[in-house]
Amino acid sequence: MRRLAFTLAALCAAAPAAFAQDANDTSAAALISKFAAEAGITADAETGKAFFLATQSGGGADTPSCSSCHTADPKATGMARTGKEIAPMALSVNPKRFTDTAFVDKWFGRNCDSVLGRECTATEKANVLAYFASI
Ligand code: HEC
Repeated sequence: MRRLAFTLAALCAAAPAAFAQDANDTSAAALISKFAAEAGITADAETGKAFFLATQSGGGADTPSCSSCHTADPKATGMARTGKEIAPMALSVNPKRFTDTAFVDKWFGRNCDSVLGRECTATEKANVLAYFASI
């Protein structure tokens, strides 16, 4: 009986961690290195900034740019189409950013589709993360 109680307590303690968004399994620096290596480039923050601010085509009419939701200033609070606030992307004001690989992959997937109608390339991911990490 004692063992069962222990097992249940351990399961309950483990459950919230398994579903937390901030899994802390990586860092911005590690992700930048990973995408840069995949692309065979050195990540460039200025190119990432231009990509982030650019008006793209191929995506949704109301989301022509990353800045449509994240605003033109990554240090500012953005807003999703639903009206929900989006915490700043700049690592200097939001150090929890880019620490959960699955979360990053999920949102690159959705956001790149909304803005470009396609996946972002490894080059685009490395550069835009380098931009967020640089400011
Ligand atoms: C339709 C609104 C919208 C657009 C457009 C958008 N995003 Fe996002 N983005 C979000 C939301 C909502 C989240 C998840 C909430 C959060 O992270 O605070 C998010 C999260 C992210 C994340 C994950 C951040 C993390 O902490 O791991 C990345 C990376 C990202 N966006 C990059 C981009 C890039 C690059 C573009 C342009 C190609 C873009 N987003 C365009 C709404 C948007």
